[in-house]
Amino acid sequence: MCGIVGYIGKNNATKLVLEGLKKLEYRGYDSAGLSFIRDNKLMTFKKKGRIKVLEESFDQDEFSSNISIGHTRWATHGEPNEINAHPHLSSDGKITVVHNGIIENYLELRKDLIKKGYKFLSQTDTEVIPNVIADNYKGDILDAVFKATEILKGAYSIGILDEKEPNRLIAVRNSSPLLFAICKDGYFIASDITSVIEHTNKIIYLEDGDIIDIRENSYTIYDKNHKKVEREITEVNISAADASKEGYDHFLIKEIYEQPRVLREVISIKHNNYVINLPLEGSLSLEELKNINKIYITACGTAFHAGEAGKYAIENLAKIPVISEIASEFRYKNMFVDDKSLVVFVSQSGETADTLAALRKAKAIGAKTLAITNVVGSSISREADKVVYCYAGPEISVASTKAYTTQVISLYFLAMDIALKLKEITQYQVKDIIQNMEKIPSQIEEILKHKDEFKKIANSIKDAKSIFYTGRSLDYITAKEGALKLKEISYIHTEAFPSGELKHGSIALIEEGTPVISVATQSSILEKTISNNQELLARGATVISIAEEKNKFIKDSSDVIIEIPDTIDLLTPLLAVIPEQLIAYYASVLLGNDVDKPRNLAKSVTVE
Ligand code: F6R
Repeated sequence: MCGIVGYIGKNNATKLVLEGLKKLEYRGYDSAGLSFIRDNKLMTFKKKGRIKVLEESFDQDEFSSNISIGHTRWATHGEPNEINAHPHLSSDGKITVVHNGIIENYLELRKDLIKKGYKFLSQTDTEVIPNVIADNYKGDILDAVFKATEILKGAYSIGILDEKEPNRLIAVRNSSPLLFAICKDGYFIASDITSVIEHTNKIIYLEDGDIIDIRENSYTIYDKNHKKVEREITEVNISAADASKEGYDHFLIKEIYEQPRVLREVISIKHNNYVINLPLEGSLSLEELKNINKIYITACGTAFHAGEAGKYAIENLAKIPVISEIASEFRYKNMFVDDKSLVVFVSQSGETADTLAALRKAKAIGAKTLAITNVVGSSISREADKVVYCYAGPEISVASTKAYTTQVISLYFLAMDIALKLKEITQYQVKDIIQNMEKIPSQIEEILKHKDEFKKIANSIKDAKSIFYTGRSLDYITAKEGALKLKEISYIHTEAFPSGELKHGSIALIEEGTPVISVATQSSILEKTISNNQELLARGATVISIAEEKNKFIKDSSDVIIEIPDTIDLLTPLLAVIPEQLIAYYASVLLGNDVDKPRNLAKSVTVE
């Protein structure tokens, strides 16, 4: 939710910040802007719309500088327009700020500042920040920022420039992501690594409350108590290619096609000759497991669907009931957790505000917490007691694909680990599951060969008023994920139903020609799913079934059949989701939508 980049150093900061912002555009893209200091004069350019509009609005060579901060916005307070775009300046025009997060007490601060004579131009919460800093300025920008952090409430990462101190970039990280990157010729601040990785892999993941004072040749980090601290420099292992489209038309299709490679890697990391290999910090000892009597899984959106597949795996392999809850609901509930509960948090970004808030609450109550996340150094990865990484590599497209499949794999390894330790399954069963898992990447490659078939299906449904997804058990989870994928990038109304529930109301929505994507892979309940397909066909629906090759007979209860290679029931979600992803992709392309940056969405939802 909003992206920040800042640079101070020997190179053209204006250009570097714009380039970095383009890599962060997936975090929000309704407006963009940047500030820089040139010949001791603070300058700001902002535009409604994409970074490209901003880039084309001025000549970066003519306005070169060695210090700049920039922002790409996903609106929270105030409509997306030029005035509300960041950076925001103090009333006197001397201090400029880019901000990711929300200032919760901005209304009262704004009222106080107005009384003192400060003028506000925008409707944003952010505009109070430069003014609070200006109000506390007594000749040193860092001191003023220290004071401001005691006044501002909420979650925020900010970058700050002050015209009076033109060789200083100050940044603060407070419950919103921000990293500091060290290059040969300067320093960056950024919301995430994709915007800096082509310049350096030397990263400091700032801690919550950290404030960093950056000059051209040095930097100093202060903790939340304003004490100087040293933070570890991490050399991250991500290549610039991971963060580029590499010839694909969109990040989404690149990421769909990356799944075989990524899954091969993840599976091989998580076992050693079929012995589960979860790192110490990601696995629970038998003693810890014996102390646990309740497991919760919580997450948002696609990550929640992965979590539900994880619930199925833990319940079926480890025979422990698991409660799954959407994080934005869970966090506000009476959480019936205690020191005998394990709460699992699934999050690609590791920054989703609701998931993070649920983690903090569960931890404060005393629950044991375990994160399944993709982003090393993210807030969730650092705050949970245990972490299992997904190793999907950077996922840039807003719609999640490879993060989902790697989350499912990671959760399945966790489930097997728990089940084996509790002696609910044998090492022989673990080996069998992993051997089947090892076939999944090449089976996905097989499915990807049928892209033209999925394009044809996408074309046949793209003008539908509504599209329904159905399934039972694990298939219902895959149906939910398919429905979410299609709706978020095609803007077609979709809904997922448990097949058995249709006749209790929802079947009334079926009209002649209504497309229904029926996920039909779970062998124990296949006959029931087939009967439900028949009921749909009888009411005029066009039934498109996703079924394993071995179940060709499902053709008799479908208008169209999408065949996926045969696997064990537990693993079908990893295959059945691939046609769903491709159908969603092609529908979005055919409808002329912005595939990687669907309207109203952002990749990392750091607001509640
Ligand atoms: C949908 C999608 C979202 C995310 C959700 C949680 O394709 O990507 O539903 O899954 O916003 O995000 P993370 O996993 O970063 O917590």
